[in-house]
Amino acid sequence: MAEPSDSSVDHRTFHGQILVGSRIIDYLSSGLYKSPAACLKELVNNSYDADATVARILVKPDADRIIIDDDGVGMDLETFERHFSKISESHKRDDSDVTPSGRPKIGKIGIGFIAANEICEEMEIFSTCEGSSELLHVTIDFARMREPQAQRRSDEGDYAKGDYYGEILEAPIDEHYTRIFLKRVRGEARDILAGAKPPHAGARDTSLYGLKPATIRDRLANLTSWSSLDDYSQTRLGVALNVPVRYPDDWVSEDHREQLQDFEESVARLGFRAEYDGTDLERPVVLTGPKANSMVKTVEFAGNHVAAKGWLYAQHGTLRPEELNGVLIRIRNAAVGEYNDDFLGFPHAEGTLFQRWITAELYADDRLEDALNIDRRTLRDTHPAYVELRQWFHEEFSGFLTDVRRVLYTKPAAQRKRQRVATEARRMEEVASAVSEDYGKATGARIAEAWLLPQGARQPNERLISRKYSVSELYRTVLAVAREVLPPHLARRFIDELTRRLRG
Ligand SMILES: Nc1ncnc2c1ncn2[C@@H]1O[C@H](COP(=O)(O)OP(=O)(O)OP(=O)(O)O)[C@@H](O)[C@H]1O
Ligand SMILES: [Mg+2]
Repeated sequence: MAEPSDSSVDHRTFHGQILVGSRIIDYLSSGLYKSPAACLKELVNNSYDADATVARILVKPDADRIIIDDDGVGMDLETFERHFSKISESHKRDDSDVTPSGRPKIGKIGIGFIAANEICEEMEIFSTCEGSSELLHVTIDFARMREPQAQRRSDEGDYAKGDYYGEILEAPIDEHYTRIFLKRVRGEARDILAGAKPPHAGARDTSLYGLKPATIRDRLANLTSWSSLDDYSQTRLGVALNVPVRYPDDWVSEDHREQLQDFEESVARLGFRAEYDGTDLERPVVLTGPKANSMVKTVEFAGNHVAAKGWLYAQHGTLRPEELNGVLIRIRNAAVGEYNDDFLGFPHAEGTLFQRWITAELYADDRLEDALNIDRRTLRDTHPAYVELRQWFHEEFSGFLTDVRRVLYTKPAAQRKRQRVATEARRMEEVASAVSEDYGKATGARIAEAWLLPQGARQPNERLISRKYSVSELYRTVLAVAREVLPPHLARRFIDELTRRLRG
């Protein structure tokens, strides 16, 4: 690894070398940020941390160059160099762990920015801060960073081959923004980002490109799996799931809205928007179950090592799109990986069927951050905060499964049965009254008494009234009766007619 060169600032131009701490290098080289979504969400979260009200991401048409543009506080050369001349940790929370507008800062590790090296060869930054007339313009050459150490050392000091070089330009004093260009996007990432490969040949409606948020919402409501969308769209959804953007309008039925209002509002209060190719990113969570077929439970926990709150939602039937099945943990509003579909290691055998009906979200407090692995996707499962969270969640989840079974499964089944009995009773009443008319009241009354019981008495006998007969059972019963009460020539006619009618 090369020593950082003296970055000679001569007011106008500067250059320097990037030194990446060994801890970071290990993680970078493990291919953590291979997925373009994992890299883009880091840049969006940086905009959020910079108190931007909006981050605009431009990927299309061919993803050869990606732009991320925000109206945040910006950064100056000193901040840039402190970070880039030795990437080993984040200084973001040195002074405060919330932004001036009160957002809990997501950045912690000091790796997000450099993660871009996984998807492009070059990164160009323009940034300016309010109250400063300096515009930082710097280019980072990742290709050079990837060169073997020995080669880098021999070139040390060579301006042309610096890892970064730049200049200070001028900007109006009241402007503040950061504009990042990812240039020479690498082949595989470019294909994914541009959605060059549709999921399967001939598939239609596979892209979310250019759709309005409301249309995307509707598409998500009817989707079995994100994998039926192209890579471009899946990347978009991956970014949207992670970053602190709001829930869509009508993301859940009115019946459950009130219960989830706190969650909805607390995200909206952060006041952060992200646009992806001109369309607002919204949480890709749309829960369509109507009241009778779905249920929500909110949960809260304050333990010794961690506190959390969240919600669980279940609907009758397998949850769609399948990506939402599971539990998603958020720390400081950013997601930790994706939905965990085994509910943090919950026993698979318990309520197996109903587990597939559930999606949940947990917002944990800062103490869980300590359990976060550097990949930001996983938690150390031996960490006391995680252990405690998991145990608590499993208790809640187990109770919820019981409720789901009762409310969405057992109870509706009993209701459906009662309904069937009531319908059948009504039909039998009609039969009895038709018999009364044709053969006299006494005969009709005997039917009513046998099957329906006197009015105002108990319910009709459920077992009797909903009994089902097979064709042979029906014949055996009717034939026995015909033999006993009809003379043979009438019995023959009766049987022929019965067969004709039953065959329809
Ligand atoms: N959009 C931006 N606006 C202003 N400053 C930024 C922006 N993006 C990055 N920075 C600065 O660059 C630094 C490095 O960002 P990076 O994402 O690598 O680390 P981090 O956010 O501090 O930690 P983490 O790796 O956990 O995200 C930030 O701490 C911040 O000072
Ligand atoms: Mg960051």
